[in-house]
Amino acid sequence: MSFKGRDILSTVDMSKEDFLEIMKVTGKMEELTKKEPVSNLLSDKIVAVLFMEPSTRTRLSFETAIHRLGAKAITVASAASSSAAKGETLADTAMTLDGYVDAIIVRQPQTGGARIMADAAKAPVINGGDGAGQHPTQALLDLYTILKEKGTLENLKIAMVGDLKYGRTVHSLSYAMAPFSPKEYIYCAPEELQMPEEIVKDMADRSIPVRKTADISEALQADIIYMTRIQRERFEDPAQYERLKGSFVLTRDLVKQGNPNISVMHPLPRVDEITTDVDDLPNAAYFRQAHNGVYLRMALLAMVTGRA
Ligand code: CP
Repeated sequence: MSFKGRDILSTVDMSKEDFLEIMKVTGKMEELTKKEPVSNLLSDKIVAVLFMEPSTRTRLSFETAIHRLGAKAITVASAASSSAAKGETLADTAMTLDGYVDAIIVRQPQTGGARIMADAAKAPVINGGDGAGQHPTQALLDLYTILKEKGTLENLKIAMVGDLKYGRTVHSLSYAMAPFSPKEYIYCAPEELQMPEEIVKDMADRSIPVRKTADISEALQADIIYMTRIQRERFEDPAQYERLKGSFVLTRDLVKQGNPNISVMHPLPRVDEITTDVDDLPNAAYFRQAHNGVYLRMALLAMVTGRA
């Protein structure tokens, strides 16, 4: 199925064929960038980059992708600097941008907000993170990273650790890896931050074995340990955050006690959940993961504008 004009809102409604097609184009974008750091593939395109929540990787890797494809970006880097601060709705913003650009990338705090924009806009909308909902482009770059680190997406044991309740990256990753017959998902979190039941049930419906635990040593036996930050900004009760922060800290000693071939991933930013002495272990894949985001986002932009 062609991706031209398609919105990228969630990994829930994507097929295995979709994921494999995106991986193929991402590989081509990596090759293209190595041969030709700035191409003219999208030189006639303008892309809106609308970020109403803080971001380093998603926004700047999208902007890098736009530059590497020869396109132009128009950027709003905070809610305070857009008319959202005056009460403009997401739908009105989308209908306005429709007359300016060829694609819209949006991060904003409302779960489902990207879909509201997509329903209002004719231009394709790419969700750069909607509250505690989904972060599909992160999950897709995670897939590309897993493929490069492990040589396959099939039949892997994947542990997700930390804030699984509010962590939109692990929500998206659970669905993105689901078509590849995971051996097991190990959801490792304090009870209050466990994976939402709706997602656990969806995984059971897909016949994926799921283990819930609060013991990180179980997670260290997986092929991939995907660490996440406890998301302070999503807690209604600051005392609960204070109690739960620092629940899991992955140290060099812990990594050495686990599966020797384990890949350590993290969407970043980290606070204290991976100590910096892990960074130079070959298992530490998280900065490679962040770098892969440029190729993945180049691929999505080329695909939704009909150039790949
Ligand atoms: N992984 C991720 O979404 O990072 P940013 O919040 O810096 O974009």
